[in-house]
Amino acid sequence: MHIALVASEGVPFSKTGGLADVVGALPRALAALGHQVSVFLPRYKQTKLSDPATVVRSITIPFDDKYRFASVVSGGSQSGVKFYFVEYQQFFDRDALYGTPAGDYPDNAERFALFSRAVLEATKILGVPQVFHCHDWQSALVPVLLRTVYAEDPAFREVGTVFTIHNMGYQGLFPPEVLPLLMLPWDLFTMSKMEFFGQVNFLKGAITYSDYITTVSKKYSQEIQTAEYGFGLEGVLRDRAATVTGILNGVDYEEWSPQTDKFTVAKYSPQDLSGKGLCKKDLLAAFGVTHADPKLPVIGIVSRFAAQKGFDLISQIMDRLAREEMIVVALGAGDKPYEEMFIRLNKQFPNKIAVKVAYDNAIAHKIEAGSDMFLMPSKYEPCGLNQIYSLKYGTVPIVRATGGLDDTIEPWDARTGRGTGFKFTEYNGESLLLTIKQALVAFRDQTSWQVLMRNGMSKDFSWNASAREYGKIYERVKQARAAAPVMEKVLV
Ligand code: ADP
Ligand code: GLC
Repeated sequence: MHIALVASEGVPFSKTGGLADVVGALPRALAALGHQVSVFLPRYKQTKLSDPATVVRSITIPFDDKYRFASVVSGGSQSGVKFYFVEYQQFFDRDALYGTPAGDYPDNAERFALFSRAVLEATKILGVPQVFHCHDWQSALVPVLLRTVYAEDPAFREVGTVFTIHNMGYQGLFPPEVLPLLMLPWDLFTMSKMEFFGQVNFLKGAITYSDYITTVSKKYSQEIQTAEYGFGLEGVLRDRAATVTGILNGVDYEEWSPQTDKFTVAKYSPQDLSGKGLCKKDLLAAFGVTHADPKLPVIGIVSRFAAQKGFDLISQIMDRLAREEMIVVALGAGDKPYEEMFIRLNKQFPNKIAVKVAYDNAIAHKIEAGSDMFLMPSKYEPCGLNQIYSLKYGTVPIVRATGGLDDTIEPWDARTGRGTGFKFTEYNGESLLLTIKQALVAFRDQTSWQVLMRNGMSKDFSWNASAREYGKIYERVKQARAAAPVMEKVLV
């Protein structure tokens, strides 16, 4: 089947978080199953293309005051997947993808509306897929456009749409005036379509108009239908419950494996763990922790610094955690208050809490390999990839039992020797501290700790199984569309 993935970031061309990892790896897994796959991304300043070729010179995108003209550049094929980039320098040739530390770019609605329209128009020249698989609010207008202003376009008569929600916390909320600006009809501004507390909600549009909705773990697919995790869209999702499902993200073990990692000083495997000690030494040196006892457990953190990731709990317990026999090594960037918090903690406990405020892929790999434990106390976590990487590196995850963290980590039971990590449920500092202390106690018995490490290392979260599940959904959508090719109709 021909699938077109549409997203705002994808490895190796652009990345701010896990979405990029997914968009980098899922297409290859789909191609390996025999699907024809194309991927559409914006061409940002950070997008490096070795041999770009313009394949569509000019696409007219209507705005209320003028036409804008985008083009599409081919990035060639990789592992059977074709990559295309929407080029419009005024919108995408900027330092960051979505905004600066001061906030989101004020024209994000225009930027990603242009992107979505350009993708639709480009496929009319490059080949219309059977299914558009869109990701997060930045590509949410694709299903909306298809079922509204494009409803009479014969080119798209049988096309289906699958929409994957990677994070309910980012919905694409804009003032009502964006509708006429983007040449979208006012009747979208109703409660049953895109209106949301007086604003236009792109994500709500996608949930309303897509044929099928997925999210990135089973647990999160249930959570987002509740008030606690739905960010106000739980009712809209419940209305579509028959077409909402969770498919766990896979991970790319070519990129994330201690046996082949390009960024680590030593390689290791479940059969021979000795290289991990060298990785730990190298990690501590990279963070300038040179006088610490190498036997102390190292707890790693790699994260976007955002409220979602549970940093308020970390701030509650750090004073007390710093009294324990351990070292925290944290890499992250994002919200200023959390950056400042870590810098302050580092000043206060220089031998216990080491920090790099940065976005650095090489250091992220060193932390996965060189730490003994990996901390992810998220308030919510649609899937989470770092805890899955950690398992492969024998770096034992300490997580909150939410979303994908709950689906991927099994609690360690020293008596049976089963389990892969440590979990807590209540979102408070005490539960987190207690759980970290349990992990620190377990670490003292190195014989059973190695059983725990190996349990995690033997888990397989590669993409193949999840790609097959997506394949089934594409098939279902394709058949349903072929049976009822009425464009405006949303399949239920
Ligand atoms: P999210 O997408 O919510 O940020 P995930 O766990 O799904 O969380 O994915 C995060 C991805 O981004 C991982 O590949 C992780 O290594 C990477 N990452 C996050 N923060 C940083 C950072 N500061 N430096 C380098 N890589 C980072
Ligand atoms: C989002 C989520 C994260 C998930 C990633 C990829 O950024 O926060 O949990 O792993 O998307 O699906």
